[in-house]
Amino acid sequence: MRRAKIIGTGMAVPPAVVDNHLLSRCMNTSDEWIVQRTGIKERRVSPDTYRMLLRLAEAPDKVAFMKQVFDQGLDGVIDSTLTVSDLALEASQMALERAGVTARELDCIIESSTVPDFAYPHTGCVLQGKFGLTSTPAFNLQQGCAGFIYGLAMADQFIRTGLYGRILVVGAELLSSMFDYTDRGRDMAVLFADGAGAVVLQAVEGGESGLISHHLHSDGTVLDGLAGEIYGSSTYPAISKKKIDEDRGRPRMNGRQVFVHAVRRFREVVGECLEANRMDVADIDLFIFHQANIRIIEAVAEALKIPFEKTYNNVERYGNTAAASVPICLHEALMGGRIKEGDLVLMAAFGTGFAWGASLLRW
Ligand code: UT7
Repeated sequence: MRRAKIIGTGMAVPPAVVDNHLLSRCMNTSDEWIVQRTGIKERRVSPDTYRMLLRLAEAPDKVAFMKQVFDQGLDGVIDSTLTVSDLALEASQMALERAGVTARELDCIIESSTVPDFAYPHTGCVLQGKFGLTSTPAFNLQQGCAGFIYGLAMADQFIRTGLYGRILVVGAELLSSMFDYTDRGRDMAVLFADGAGAVVLQAVEGGESGLISHHLHSDGTVLDGLAGEIYGSSTYPAISKKKIDEDRGRPRMNGRQVFVHAVRRFREVVGECLEANRMDVADIDLFIFHQANIRIIEAVAEALKIPFEKTYNNVERYGNTAAASVPICLHEALMGGRIKEGDLVLMAAFGTGFAWGASLLRW
């Protein structure tokens, strides 16, 4: 039977580390609050965000400084020094190297980012261009934190049906450019960060190893749970100074609502995956949940009676990197010896949309 097998993984995070103490010099928050409510101690951000935060921490009038940055960029510069496709490229190059294949040998690229380089063309295409490829099909998914799971499911179908033999699936995010790092944006600014993870999938015949099943869902009736309308046909014109002045450029989140939905949907989708494969928790060697908040993972683990040692977590070091969080965990778990040949790994993610899903694989 033809299956899709992961033959290489990779990740990339920007070098700048922002701990909770730096954030608490910018806004009214504390290391204690953030660790207690989320488990996050530090996160990685782009060089631009880092420079901005260092300046904001020293600014006597933080609201005025942040407004100036939103109005004019930092020192009048609005072009990013690091974009989301740069992070995607770095993670992909590592995955390709570990797989022992070149970008030219890919049949398809599936990239997922919540905040793209440009509104269009999509980041999959930008990434493809950075590889110097001129005809490989490239997709872009916008399923937020669930993007990598959706990407795996799509790639698996392309491989099983024989359309493609080798696919790069990437989850990359540069979210830190979105937030207001003063008190007004503190609910979201402490959670999200930048990073990328990638895998190379290859068709294999026979054997047990490879992707097994995928379980995908969305619920578009709860748009206000987590949304960003910076550019879009929900307003005319799609982008305007008035829209920004009315603060509609900033992402919105109802933290409690997201928390409750996340716990419920994780429980359901893990149950669905186990049932579809006639397995139970004891059969799974490692659970990788999207790294949004350690309390969400603890609640799910408790409800499903998953021993906490069977989960891999790094939210403490990277915060919430949305579509990048599952492939970063997968790469780290593999490098750290947490996944061995033959192991069953269940990955699950939940995010904006809402969109969520789970994938089961045997390593
Ligand atoms: O990929 C999915 C993305 N989103 C998520 O995963 C978010 C899921 N939700 C959460 O993780 C949690 O709801 C949060 C971490 C966002 C918030 O934790 P919470 O325990 O639900 O706190 P809360 O929203 O009920 O807020 C409690 C208090 C509020 O103050 P008052 O109204 O009680 O005076 C907030 O204003 O905490 C305040 N607060 C903060 N305080 C210090 C909100 N953000 C902060 C902050 N620092 N950064």
